[in-house]
Amino acid sequence: MKITFTDKAPATKFLVAGCYEDKDFGTVLSALDKVANGAIKASAINTDFKAKLEKMMRVPTLNGLDGALLLIGLGQVKDHTGLALEKLGAKLIPGLSCIRVKTAAIDLSDIEATEALSAPEMIAYVASGALLRSWRFDKYKTKREPDEIPTLEELVFVSPDVKATQAAFDRLSAIAEGNHLTRLVVSEPPNVIYPESMAAHAKELAKLGVKVDVFGEKEMTKLGFGALLGVGQGSIRESQLVVMQWLGGNKEEKPIAVVGKGVTFDTGGINIKPSNGMEDMKYDMAGSGVVLGLMKSLALRKAKVNVVGVMGLAENMPSGSAIRPSDVLTSLSGQTIEVLNTDAEGRLVLADALWYTQDKFKPQYIIDLATLTGAITVALGYEYAGLFSNNDKLSTMLTDAGTQVGEQLWRLPMGKTYDKDINSDVADVKNVGSGRGAGSITAAQFLERFVNKTPWAHLDIAGMAWDKADKPLTGKGATGYGVRLLNEFLAKNFEG
Ligand code: BES
Ligand code: MN
Ligand code: ZN
Repeated sequence: MKITFTDKAPATKFLVAGCYEDKDFGTVLSALDKVANGAIKASAINTDFKAKLEKMMRVPTLNGLDGALLLIGLGQVKDHTGLALEKLGAKLIPGLSCIRVKTAAIDLSDIEATEALSAPEMIAYVASGALLRSWRFDKYKTKREPDEIPTLEELVFVSPDVKATQAAFDRLSAIAEGNHLTRLVVSEPPNVIYPESMAAHAKELAKLGVKVDVFGEKEMTKLGFGALLGVGQGSIRESQLVVMQWLGGNKEEKPIAVVGKGVTFDTGGINIKPSNGMEDMKYDMAGSGVVLGLMKSLALRKAKVNVVGVMGLAENMPSGSAIRPSDVLTSLSGQTIEVLNTDAEGRLVLADALWYTQDKFKPQYIIDLATLTGAITVALGYEYAGLFSNNDKLSTMLTDAGTQVGEQLWRLPMGKTYDKDINSDVADVKNVGSGRGAGSITAAQFLERFVNKTPWAHLDIAGMAWDKADKPLTGKGATGYGVRLLNEFLAKNFEG
C-alpha cells in the first residue's frame, strides 16, 4: 500500500477526517458540516460515535457534499501516545477495506501536538499504524471471488508540514518494513522457508549495507557446532548459521548481539509431536525471523548503532539419521549435552549460536528470541512474552521498550535450584528438566550455561509470534513481535 503526504486537500472522492471528543470540528469538517446544514455534527452527537478514540462513523453522500466521508474519533489529546495513534491508524484499514475504496485522503491537519509529540510526528504514527495493519499474506491465493479481492491501494495524509511528517514517517516505515519481512518469512510454508532459503533472505540485506556471512554444515562441523548440527541431522535440508552485521555506530563500540532460534519446521524429531496442531510448527523459526526483520529495519533507517544478528537454522525431522533420546552431543562450548527429548531442540540450536556469538563478538549485551516452550503460553498466554535474564538493567530496558510499543514482556525468575534440575547423570547437562514443572525456566537455565557471563536476556516468544485472534496492529497470523520492541530498545538506549 502506498502512503503519501500532502498539505492541501487532495481531489479524492473519499475523505477520512478526525475529530475530538471534547472539541469542536476542525476547519475541514466545519466547512463540510456547513454545506450539510449541520447534519454531520448532529449525527456525530446523536449516535454512539461521539468521537471516542478509534470509533468510526460513515457519512453517506449528502446534498452538496462530493463523495463520501468517514469520521474517525480522536478521543482526547491526553490519549495520544505514539502507540495509541498507531492503533488508530491501524483501525482505518479494516474500516476502509469493507467500504471497498481504492484511495482515501485522511485529514488530520488540525491534530493538536502533545508534550511528547509534534503534530507531524503524530500524523506519521497514524500512517505507520495503517502501514503495519495493511500487510497481508495472500500470495498463494490464485482464485478469489471479486468481493474478496482487496481494493485499498493508497492513503494520502493531509498534514500542515509535509517535510517533517515524511521525515518522521521514514523512520517508522523502516521499522514497519522490518516487521513485514518477519511476518513474511514466518507465514511462508516450510517447503519454501528452510535454512538455506532463510540464508538467501539474509543475503538480500547486503544491498542495504548489512554484512552477511553464512556457514553451512561443512564449516560448522569444522568449528564444532555439535548441538546445532545434531538438531538438523535428520533432515535433508542443510543446517545454516547466518551472521549479519549492521555497523552504524562508533568503531570502538562493542555491538549488541541478537540471536534467533530458526527451526524451520519442528516435528519434534524422534520424540514426535502429536499430529493435531503440528502445522503450527512452521513458525518455530520466528525468533530468527525477528532477527532478520530487525536487521532490515536498522539498515533502512541507518541506525547509529552496532548490531550483530545471528540466526541458528535447522529443520527438526524424524528419520534414520535423526538424533535419538539419550544421544550425547558435544556443543561448541565443549560442554556435553544429553539429549533426553528430541523435541527440546531449540535450546540445542541456541546453545551453539549463543556460544559462538559471545565468543566471536564479545558483545555488550546478548539477547535471544525463541519460540522455545509451550509452557510459556500456560504461564502468560498471548499477552506477554517471557523474559529471562542474568541482568536487571537489561531487563528493565527491554521491558520499558516493550511497554512503549505494545510488545509486552514479563520477567520470570531464574536461579540455582532450577539450574540443578538440568544436571545430567551422564553428561554435563541434559536438555530437559526432571519433569517437576517450570519448563520455560529450565529451558532458560539451559541457555544461560552457554552465554559465558555475558549480560544476556532470553525472550520466549512462543505465545506471541503468531496470533489466531486479531491483534490491533497486525491482525491475524504472524505478528512480527520483537521487531518494534528491539528497534525501540536500541534507539532509546544506544543511539543517543
Ligand atoms: N517449538 C516448540 C515450542 C512451541 C510450542 C513453540 C508451541 C510454539 C508454540 C519447542 O521446540 C518444543 O517442542 N518444546 C517442548 C519442550 C519439552 C519437550 C521440554 C514443549 O514445549 O513441549
Ligand atoms: Mn520442539
Ligand atoms: Zn521447537
